[in-house]
Amino acid sequence: MNIGIDKIGFYTSPFFVDLSELANARGVDPNKYLIGIGQKKQAVIPPSQDVVTMAANAADSMLSKEDKKKIDLIIFGTETGVDNSKSAAIYIQSLLGISNNARAFEIKQACYGGTAGVQMAIDHIRSHPDSKVLVLAADIARYGLKTPGEVTQGGGAISMLISKDPRILAINTSSTFFSKNIMDFWRPIQKKEAIVDGHYSTDIYIDFFLKTWSRYQKLYGQNLNNFKAIIFHLPFSKMGKKALNALFAKESGQYDLEIKRNFDFSKIYSSLVGNLYTGSLYLSLVSLLANSNSLKKGDQIGLFSYGSGAQGEFYTGKIQSSVPNLQLKNNVESLLNSRTKLSVPNYEKIYRDGIRADSENIDYDISSDHSKYVLSGRKQNQLKYLKQK
Ligand code: COA
Repeated sequence: MNIGIDKIGFYTSPFFVDLSELANARGVDPNKYLIGIGQKKQAVIPPSQDVVTMAANAADSMLSKEDKKKIDLIIFGTETGVDNSKSAAIYIQSLLGISNNARAFEIKQACYGGTAGVQMAIDHIRSHPDSKVLVLAADIARYGLKTPGEVTQGGGAISMLISKDPRILAINTSSTFFSKNIMDFWRPIQKKEAIVDGHYSTDIYIDFFLKTWSRYQKLYGQNLNNFKAIIFHLPFSKMGKKALNALFAKESGQYDLEIKRNFDFSKIYSSLVGNLYTGSLYLSLVSLLANSNSLKKGDQIGLFSYGSGAQGEFYTGKIQSSVPNLQLKNNVESLLNSRTKLSVPNYEKIYRDGIRADSENIDYDISSDHSKYVLSGRKQNQLKYLKQK
């Protein structure tokens, strides 16, 4: 039985900051951000959006009434949870009107949570073939103003419907993973910004990629010739390029040029949004499906997922849709093109609003956020979500 991603949705904030302007404000050559890091624009997440609203906005138009009845598992991968107890998945269930006869919970391992959800969902469908699983991966990437990590911030959500006979990507059962207790990036409970040892984390990322790739080859007898594309978790788009270069330094195959071209297609949207943490690998998938001019149904692709701290996984799948997927491209690009550019001082104000100590009663300004789902504030410590249209 083929199992995998049947539908995929994406949402990001209606606001962004231009990274050339940020570079100028920070006294840095813009080419460091544009070429050296590989990022052009960065999503800026207002207080009216959190991981719940972003995931609801990503999933809303993707799900049919039938899907909502059949979903019996909602898995929310995030490292930007909204409550230490209650899962973001429960909020999604009620906001989107998904059946109550479902398991709903949240999982965490840095940027790996989305992949943990996908793999868990596949196992679930294998034993319950007629059900469907909603996997959500949403985060706000925040490092701090004027820090080296600032250029790699961002945020947004990916939603995926996992089912049998998937129409986007059939995921193979073969997969290799590696985990180790490492302090490359972490988010202490009392802080809203991440702490990162950036250069160390990029080295560990490459090391985990090469380890899981080599083990995959050994266990499943495959090599580069079996792949038309390899896509990556992209904390910044240059990261995937570094990993790919490390792979090509070790070996080559008949589709090297195509793999490189497809990597370029897979990084387009990340370079316009920034890091989604849990959702980043899947934004690479969206970007590949929407933009590649060479992939066809049945082609095999590799996916590398990495979550600092650290967990890596390399897995593979076969394309099921026609590529480029023009409807997906249209949906994503109309969202990205409708965003409002913020000046650097306005971005800094929103950043500071996002990390201030919140009181138990607060109203957020939602007048400039026309997203379907918004967070309007908090009353007696209860989050107030609103459906606007
Ligand atoms: N024109 C073009 N490229 C330039 C440049 C210029 N004027 N100035 C610098 N660069 C290049 C550098 O050569 C370097 O390229 P390389 O990585 O290929 O060597 C790149 O820009 C970055 O420069 P660097 O000096 O290393 O930047 P930095 O010390 O400010 O840190 C990160 C960069 C990525 C480490 C930092 O942004 C960070 O910590 N980000 C968070 C990391 C993260 O997300 N980790 C989680 C992993 S999942």
